Amino acid sequence: MGVIVSVKAWEILDSRGLPTIRTKVMVDDGYVGIASVPSGASTGSHEALELRDGDKKRYGGKGTLKAVSNVNDIIAPAVVGMNAGEQGSLDQMMIDLDGTENKSKLGANAILSVSIAAAIASAESAGLPLYNYLGGAGARLLPTPMMNVINGGKHSDAGLSVQEFLVIPAGAPTFGEALRYGVETFQALKSILAAEGEAVSVGDEGGFAPHLKSTRDVLDHLIKAIEMTGLKAGRDVYLAMDSASSEFHSQGLYQFDGAGLTSEELVLEYKKLCAAYPIISIEDGLAEDDWAGWSTMVRELGAAIQIIGDDLFVTNPERVARGIVERSANAVLIKLNQIGTLSETLDTIHMTTANGWKAIVSHRSGETSDTFISDLVVGLNIGQIKTGSLSRSERIEKYNRLLEIEEDLGSAGRFAGLDVFAGKANANRS
Ligand code: PGA
Ligand code: ZN
Repeated sequence: MGVIVSVKAWEILDSRGLPTIRTKVMVDDGYVGIASVPSGASTGSHEALELRDGDKKRYGGKGTLKAVSNVNDIIAPAVVGMNAGEQGSLDQMMIDLDGTENKSKLGANAILSVSIAAAIASAESAGLPLYNYLGGAGARLLPTPMMNVINGGKHSDAGLSVQEFLVIPAGAPTFGEALRYGVETFQALKSILAAEGEAVSVGDEGGFAPHLKSTRDVLDHLIKAIEMTGLKAGRDVYLAMDSASSEFHSQGLYQFDGAGLTSEELVLEYKKLCAAYPIISIEDGLAEDDWAGWSTMVRELGAAIQIIGDDLFVTNPERVARGIVERSANAVLIKLNQIGTLSETLDTIHMTTANGWKAIVSHRSGETSDTFISDLVVGLNIGQIKTGSLSRSERIEKYNRLLEIEEDLGSAGRFAGLDVFAGKANANRS
């Protein structure tokens, strides 16, 4: 039972209309697992390689037919006959077949699609909900969502330095209520922007992309939107940012809100923002190789807020290990396709939490209808998910899957709420 009998991949489109890969793994008792791989825009330069065809005649070079044929012609013959439940052996087999540091031969997209599809097929074959299969009987923590309601940086043409402005409804009593807080805030924000004559069309992650003039201007709008719903900023709903600052860093300076700042100056700016607003988390506040800057940021702000490394760590255990030694952050963003197998992702999560840091499971800006991350975050009791705004089906499907899991778990379920946040958010814990 659970022996892989076939593996088949094909090219599909992601939420930006660009090609990606979907793979179906079938096991001998007839169960199947299907997985689709997402794709980033502000990718970290240390990520595992997303293999694209480079053939300018198809999709401007972004086709994924090579990755597809790597699954069908190279990986499939090697893994047919293996047990889909032996995740470690399966993933190691693909890592060895690839043989490169960054999965550049077969492609992290190709490898990951098989890795996840096998896990899903194995869960089906075992007759377990995916979250239980991944995390065991103790899986029951519904995550606090970080909702990206304003899309700047590379995710829109809003002209904002910071890529993501997020609301965190951590003060809600349940996941379902947190979702409602987020939706109502999002709708209030829409009416505020519309009344100002701002565009209310959305960016890549389903958040608005208004041409507001500065970081503070956006944060003021978020506070206004939260309060318009009758909720309280800093009690019911908190704020966060993902600067994705590698995108506005060059030659030692950060081009932030129209000024060229050093790492120290930018950290000082973040400190002021955290004092003025109920910000409880900042991601990629500094650039992916500014290790010294990150340590400064942790010294200045690490006791008060969550400091997340995304492009800094790229879900890579070796980079996280360095970060732990150098105290570069206190949380790690987890994106499966940055590293390319489920097993290595689990290694990174384990290293993160074993060292007392927080993990946040994340989507990518280019997504599909795949909801694997919703099961992963509950399965491992991770407590935080970042899966975009409150519009666009590829984002909403992840929330809808979490609602379904909440329903399944019933009274056994727990909502992570504020408990997963260290620092100043703690002051509001009841
Ligand atoms: P990406 O953005 O998927 O475009 O890399 C998401 C993020 O930076 O968190
Ligand atoms: Zn990020």
